[in-house]
Amino acid sequence: MTINTIMVIGAGQMGSGIAQVCAMAGYNVFLHDLQEEFVQKGIQSIEKLLARAVDKGRMTEEDRDDTLRQLHPSTSIQNAAEADLIIEAVVENMDVKTGIFKMLDDIAPKHAILASNTSSLPITEIAAVTNRPEKVIGMHFMNPVPVMKLVEIIRGLQTSDSVYEVIEAVTTKLNKVPVEVNDFPGFISNRILMPMINEAIFALYEGVAEPEAIDEIMKLGMNHPMGPLTLADFIGLDTCLYIMETLQEGFGDDKYRPCPLLRKYVKAGWLGKKTGKGFYTYS
Ligand code: NAI
Repeated sequence: MTINTIMVIGAGQMGSGIAQVCAMAGYNVFLHDLQEEFVQKGIQSIEKLLARAVDKGRMTEEDRDDTLRQLHPSTSIQNAAEADLIIEAVVENMDVKTGIFKMLDDIAPKHAILASNTSSLPITEIAAVTNRPEKVIGMHFMNPVPVMKLVEIIRGLQTSDSVYEVIEAVTTKLNKVPVEVNDFPGFISNRILMPMINEAIFALYEGVAEPEAIDEIMKLGMNHPMGPLTLADFIGLDTCLYIMETLQEGFGDDKYRPCPLLRKYVKAGWLGKKTGKGFYTYS
């Protein structure tokens, strides 16, 4: 099966990055969101990153123009009728995602593959709301998408081998490395990463150390490129909370209990870098 047109649903930090790498690889791309201003914000962030790549000599002006030409803004879900592959990257909420997958199943061509960039939600459950569970798969990109090499590919219970192979080939064409995992809460990446971030938040909550000290210890002591609290701010504290809740519910184990301080920050609207305030302040 040949993939020519990809639709990305959700033009936030992940969706815009995914649309960018797909366009750079030569795919025809729809970048879709609920409102025109959200789509434009996503496109502007892509333009900014491409301009920086040209300035640094990592991309020619011609390649930048080609990439931008491949990108089509969308606020009509009906554009899914033209897509061979749809990658959903909206908020980490099961009801929202299943609502979208039901719509996509009705609109997208029969051959189209429906992928989710979910960080932790069960692909099998998302697939079950469609009439094509064998064509539903997880494509978990890492943040920031244009920089990070990994795509964790999640096979739902019913994902077919041929669909897995197509997605593996697309990922390689995006100049990324696909790694296959089975469908369990948090997959591998967030099952291991998120409890560490949550523990760092507990350490802050219990007054063990200041945020800067916690991050410095993990950077200098463990050679992590970024401390866990800074990383949480970059991921988005709402997303971190959703993932911890998914782990807690999925495994039924109290060791995944989200830290009350994380809940408090999310309730306050302190969602990290994207809102200007999380464990640190951003201008
Ligand atoms: P975000 O909050 O930056 O963007 C979400 C976008 O989805 C927003 O622009 C919103 O308007 C749009 N949206 C919401 N409902 C919609 C709908 N019904 N139809 C169309 N668009 C809709 O979130 P972010 O960080 O990009 O996360 C998106 C997904 O990617 C989540 O599932 C998250 O778990 C996952 N993810 C996030 C990572 C991160 O580091 N932030 C890393 C890997 C995966």
